[in-house]
Amino acid sequence: MEFARRKVLIREVGPRDGFQSWPDFVPTEKKLEVIRLLIDAGIREMETTSFVSPKAIPQMRDAVEVMAGAPKGACAHTPLVPNLKGARLAMDSGADKVVVVISASDAHNLANVRRTVTESVTDLKEIFALAKERGKQVIGAMAVAFGCPYQGDVPEEDVFRLADAYIAGGAASVILADTTGMATPWRIKKRVRGFRTRFPGTPFSLHLHNNRGTAMANLYAALEVGADTFDTALGGIGGCPNVPQAAGNLATEDVVYMLEDLGCATGIDLMKVIRAARRLEAILGQPLPGQVMKSGPRVPAPAAAACGTTH
Ligand code: COA
Ligand code: ZN
Repeated sequence: MEFARRKVLIREVGPRDGFQSWPDFVPTEKKLEVIRLLIDAGIREMETTSFVSPKAIPQMRDAVEVMAGAPKGACAHTPLVPNLKGARLAMDSGADKVVVVISASDAHNLANVRRTVTESVTDLKEIFALAKERGKQVIGAMAVAFGCPYQGDVPEEDVFRLADAYIAGGAASVILADTTGMATPWRIKKRVRGFRTRFPGTPFSLHLHNNRGTAMANLYAALEVGADTFDTALGGIGGCPNVPQAAGNLATEDVVYMLEDLGCATGIDLMKVIRAARRLEAILGQPLPGQVMKSGPRVPAPAAAACGTTH
């Protein structure tokens, strides 16, 4: 098998990236039900919610309650934060790590967090100081790392300057986010290779949206150049509120299906994650983009029947 025995970490982002962009507020109890199903399926790292301005993203206004109700222990809870206030709230609420988000372009950073990149980077100092004081890790997310909806191409140097700021500050890992789904396989390979040359030894995740249908091809390309961590969302939900025509993430169950068939070890139970995706679809009341939740696993048939996906 192509990537036999490669251990791949799936970072589940549906509860944050998906619920933040769902038009209606998803009730806290329903969010928690989905979070429990994901952890039961084997998810070990999750963007459980985000601590952001409730005026900016009202869908995330129950962040404290979601963190309080989420099962602890088995899964690292890594909520997203845009600033020091969010980082403090997240740590007070029991976050294991915080994901700080800054865009690689000024235009998107201004739209998303109302700060220039330089201003957000300056603010990092206090976030790192707080994290150190509390003994928490910081993950540095770089939005629009493969293209900006306002600016277009984002130069590699702008992405790597931001990565430098995160890594110099003490980030444990970073996320290269294709917030806009503008990446294609060669762009992924080029940026991943560039990143690994410039920052050898720094763990990184790829966060791949599917706005242009290239996300799974991008994931495969990333695997080919050694990537081993991916952000995915149950059912393929998700989208950035500040990207016109935002589209979903790679569906967790689709990625688990493909990775396991390629010989990778995800630690996730495909049947359970399919059932979780189907439950999510019932909760949200609309067909979701995920494919394997509809088609079922390849074989064996009894397994497909067990999760109700035979036709
Ligand atoms: N959590 C909760 N409330 C917050 C907050 C946070 N992290 N940061 C700021 N606030 C509150 C402030 O206390 C203030 O409240 P008040 O009006 O009751 O006094 C209000 O939000 C405005 O604060 P300010 O610092 O002036 O922020 P802003 O209006 O310039 O907005 C952000 C900046 C970053 C807070 C806002 O744009 C945001 O939350 N963006 C997140 C976007 C996002 O999640 N995108 C998708 C994920 S990539
Ligand atoms: Zn996203």
